[in-house]
Amino acid sequence: MTTFDSFNPAHPAEVVGTFPLHGAAEVDAAVAIAADAQRAWAATPVPARAEIIGACGVVLAEMKTELARLVAREAGKVLVEAGGDVQEAVDMALFVAGQGRAAFGETVPSELRDKLAWTTRQPIGVVGLITPWNFPIAIPAWKVFPALLAGNGVVLKPSEHAPACAEAFAAACIEAGVPHGLLQMIYGHANPATVLAVHPGVGAVSFTGSVRAGRAVAVAAMENGPKVVSLELGGKNAMIVADDADLELAVDGAIFGAFGTAGQRCTSTSRLVAHPAIADELVARIVERATALRLGDPLDITTDVGPVITAAAAGRIVAAVEGAVEAGAGLACGGHLRDDLAGCERGAFVEPTVLTGVKPEDRIAREEVFGPVLAVVEIDDLDEAIAVVNSVEYGLSACIYTRDVNRAMHAVERIDAGIVYVNAPTIGAEISLPFGGTRHTGNGFREAGRRGVEQFSQVKSVYLDYSGRLQRAQIDNRAPVADEA
Ligand code: UN1
Repeated sequence: MTTFDSFNPAHPAEVVGTFPLHGAAEVDAAVAIAADAQRAWAATPVPARAEIIGACGVVLAEMKTELARLVAREAGKVLVEAGGDVQEAVDMALFVAGQGRAAFGETVPSELRDKLAWTTRQPIGVVGLITPWNFPIAIPAWKVFPALLAGNGVVLKPSEHAPACAEAFAAACIEAGVPHGLLQMIYGHANPATVLAVHPGVGAVSFTGSVRAGRAVAVAAMENGPKVVSLELGGKNAMIVADDADLELAVDGAIFGAFGTAGQRCTSTSRLVAHPAIADELVARIVERATALRLGDPLDITTDVGPVITAAAAGRIVAAVEGAVEAGAGLACGGHLRDDLAGCERGAFVEPTVLTGVKPEDRIAREEVFGPVLAVVEIDDLDEAIAVVNSVEYGLSACIYTRDVNRAMHAVERIDAGIVYVNAPTIGAEISLPFGGTRHTGNGFREAGRRGVEQFSQVKSVYLDYSGRLQRAQIDNRAPVADEA
């Protein structure tokens, strides 16, 4: 079978893993095997499923250092953040395991006597999960654990840039006791992802990645009839800094939010909407810190910023910066490709970049860059700043830095985004609250939190009438309409 390699973006000559290029036949086989295993799994009590998911969390925690090193090598994340990626998977496993004995439905009073009304959740069958490289352990965990808890079989198609991380994640799950066959892997580029999405044996598709790829998957998924399709797509996340903000705190937040993970989180801060009274000082401090960040090998603990995922991605990021400068933005720092770092020659590094004087309508203020680039827009009126935050096609994450609780709440209520922070950066969501966004960021589903299981299960409403007679809702318990009287 034809194969492909994944590479270390800090050392592109280093192959991290070699994987088969799967096609339609392998997708067929994977769906069939998962479907077979799913029957017994669906018959397993939910708390028993949950215990195995909890065990996955324990195994992942034991492997944290080893997995973090793999994340650093394959996805280019600095070691501390790679550890956070693995920890997020551990947290998700334990959270989902806890849900196995809780939060599984609603019971409501019936409008009729001697009647019960409640909901229960049913598995969908086999679900197809398509995951990106930027959280190569955490995002598979966000999807796999709720999908398993809900009683499904899983076919996971990880990004071609981080297959070794996904393989190690799946191996940890199998070691922890996930039944043989239940968790199937499909490797390759976009093609098997689309094949998986259209497969008639796949009842739900959950996708995290770019808007373009997500739309293609969603359209394909619907070809053979309706299917649950949940999408987690882009962001153009903004930080508002008011004139009363604690500037040092805002600088810390901007540095972590914009340059953490080399700006390659869906939640990364890519716009800074600053009040003109503090903008110059804020930008000067950010630029000072940004230029001092050390680029280098993610495995070196003194490295602050690792590479971006590929040389092609680096090229796109630098081109976006050049386009912004041509359109009139000021280059306060960064903007260059660094493929000349000692020890990381030909690595895909991009300098942390700050662009000033950006207008809300500029491309750099509207389009996702997915790199370490922060565009500064100056606006004095808070309502106008919020309108600018809301003016892009995405609505994932946003934050406001202010000491004024009234302003903070004003912004919290008016910002159109799935996640809003006060005095904290746009990145770093915890797994116990829902994760997702508004507008083109997604199609309304949320991952994580108690709702994480919704995309992977069908709700069934159950009525049990123990009155021993026919009771007609909306009729028998109401006065007759006038004509009947
Ligand atoms: C992503 O980039 O797709 O909130 C996920 C955060 C992380 C998850 C990001 N917990 O930044």
